[in-house]
Amino acid sequence: MSRRLQTNPISDPKLAEQGRRLYEWAANRMTILEKFAAKNRTKKPLAGFKLGLCLHVTKETSVLAMAAKSLGAEIAICSANPLSVQNDVAAFLSSQGIRTFAWRGETKEEYDQCISSVLDTKPDIVTDDGGDLHTAAHKSRTKSIVGGTEETTSGVKRLQSMQRHGKLAYPVIAVNNAHTKHLFDNRYGTGQSTIDGIQRSAGVLFAGKHMVVSGYGWVGKGVAARAKGMGANVTITEVDPVKALEARMDGFDVMKLSEVAPYGDIFVTCTGQTSIIRKEHFVKMKNGAILANAGHFDVEINIQDLHSVADAQPQTVRQDVEEFLVRGRKIYLLAKGRVVNLVAASGNPSEIMALSFANQLLSILHIAENHDMMELKLYDVPEEIDVAVARYALEAMGIKIDRQTEKQKKYQS
Ligand SMILES: NC(=O)c1ccc[n+]([C@@H]2O[C@H](COP(=O)([O-])OP(=O)(O)OC[C@H]3O[C@@H](n4cnc5c(N)ncnc54)[C@H](O)[C@@H]3O)[C@@H](O)[C@H]2O)c1
Repeated sequence: MSRRLQTNPISDPKLAEQGRRLYEWAANRMTILEKFAAKNRTKKPLAGFKLGLCLHVTKETSVLAMAAKSLGAEIAICSANPLSVQNDVAAFLSSQGIRTFAWRGETKEEYDQCISSVLDTKPDIVTDDGGDLHTAAHKSRTKSIVGGTEETTSGVKRLQSMQRHGKLAYPVIAVNNAHTKHLFDNRYGTGQSTIDGIQRSAGVLFAGKHMVVSGYGWVGKGVAARAKGMGANVTITEVDPVKALEARMDGFDVMKLSEVAPYGDIFVTCTGQTSIIRKEHFVKMKNGAILANAGHFDVEINIQDLHSVADAQPQTVRQDVEEFLVRGRKIYLLAKGRVVNLVAASGNPSEIMALSFANQLLSILHIAENHDMMELKLYDVPEEIDVAVARYALEAMGIKIDRQTEKQKKYQS
């Protein structure tokens, strides 16, 4: 076990005060969580429950963790990505009695050990982003767990596969599948923060650039729309004919990646798949091409392939920007091919994470209350939770909407 894990599993406890300020900044933009927590606080419905969280350790995550703590939960947390930890937020959580195993720049081994440390606390409910915690738990460490939740598309896909193979050992709520999660977080949140990550690291002008977005799912749609809004000429690559047609009718060019590879200025992968941009594409790219990934895992840009075609060792030219020389042309990899919005920027805006984490908090409460009656399967977020989150979000924006009249209800029935 790494020395850091044995001693103090965060970067620097002195950063706690800065972390507290970030928590308060985010909490002010995530009032929906406080609203739901306040409704339940006197009953302390999470008292006696241990929560194991594997989430990007950001200021927004601290708002979720503090809300769950205020409802009585005992909490342990690790990061869902070794490069996405905000050290000040980790220090703040640790100062609040939340067992925190997270620092920016964990090695792969340390990352796994942090997950294992969370499981050592014997959580009752586990909340994951990407499926690494669920996967580790399923290696014979599920005994204490009565249920779990999953935040993202890639994690839901891994859980669906476990379910298909009859391996799911506890019920899981697929928070990603809530309308008030993927329609907003994946599209508007990740759309904006991915552009932010590219902007902060590479600092290039988008107007007039040729941007290639691989995958026209929720994340791809968000990235493409925002890049277009900033004046980029966007081409979509897809494997799903329906999504490709949708992209075309949304006004984007649609091409094969191998065809567009020589022309793109900025490539962004948003597929949740592996090896999207690989050797055959790197060797065709023009001088100055920039590569970024918004998908959950660092497998969408094949980095091994990139090394294999590079003429020399890559050079770090700016923070989160590595320059590879490929057949005499310079190609820039952002954030080591990891989620660019969390590594090179600070993740999705608080207002968006308020929706995602309201779904998380209510799903955790649902499991605490109903786990005895839940089957070993993947559940969608109950519709009443999804609708309640949308209603509260509208209310927080001061927006009122119509309700169906009795006549309209009858007409429909
Ligand atoms: N960075 C973030 O903050 C963030 C937030 C939400 C989701 N995600 C992650 O982003 C990824 C995409 O999520 P999503 O919700 O958009 O998923 P999605 O399933 O809605 O979309 C993925 C799209 O990629 C397409 N695709 C698959 N293989 C392809 C290939 N070889 N070439 C081109 N396109 C291909 C699919 O057809 C699909 O349309 C996932 O890994 C998810 O976990 C990241």
